[in-house]
Amino acid sequence: MAAPSSGVTALLAWFAQEGEDLPWRRTRDRYSILVAETMLQATQVARVAPRYERWIARWPTVETLSGASLGDALAEWHGLGYPRRARNLHTTAGVIAESGWPPSGDLTALPGVGPYTAAAIRCFADGEALLPVDTNVARVLARRFPAGWPGTPPGEGWAVGQALMDLGRRYCKARSPRCDDGCPIRQGCPAADSGDVSANDPPRRRQGRYEGSLRQRRGRLLGELAASGSISMGQDREAASSLVADGLALERDGALVPVE
Ligand code: ADE
Repeated sequence: MAAPSSGVTALLAWFAQEGEDLPWRRTRDRYSILVAETMLQATQVARVAPRYERWIARWPTVETLSGASLGDALAEWHGLGYPRRARNLHTTAGVIAESGWPPSGDLTALPGVGPYTAAAIRCFADGEALLPVDTNVARVLARRFPAGWPGTPPGEGWAVGQALMDLGRRYCKARSPRCDDGCPIRQGCPAADSGDVSANDPPRRRQGRYEGSLRQRRGRLLGELAASGSISMGQDREAASSLVADGLALERDGALVPVE
């Protein structure tokens, strides 16, 4: 066995000392990891943490979630954004409750589970030594390990994955990276040494403006719907129709109503 790379050793030593205590790091349950990582796909850690805890307290297993109505799942999701994620989670819970988990290599067959979430389940629940590469991790890897990941020490799959997430959020940030402000793997970093740390960053997918967007109008309608139970389709026909098309609300007699 080759000695682990010094970058990986330093990363793990830092994480052991400074890694954040987040609620989804106290479990190795696949369903809980699926819920957390689905929320984290597009919502920040600080906003996810309390909502994750509430969700898991309410529906601790795939069976309990699949026994809930889609309407309740969407209402519980409200405010996290991208409610299709909640619909997919609800569908996926039903699939697993019915047929069990697919083999590890086929997790992406589950609705809403892409390569990132599949890898996160395998790494964070099953402890496999594969890297869940989201935007933050991709950036850390491109900067610090441009020649490829040097290898995960035995038994450290979970810690490596979580450590890369913390590092990307706290030091190796997209804007204003903190290379010389305590980055624990600054030594030996080709990107920091080059003087232009962002030069070889993966392309950033810019989120469109939220203000005035269809996404905002959809969110507003779903919020009003949860409060009032019914609103006229005509209030915002485009947003209302797109919610119906996505299975996130129903049209009944010219009115938009919540799914059951
Ligand atoms: N972002 C996505 N997954 C995460 C995790 N497990 N911990 C912290 N941030 C994350």
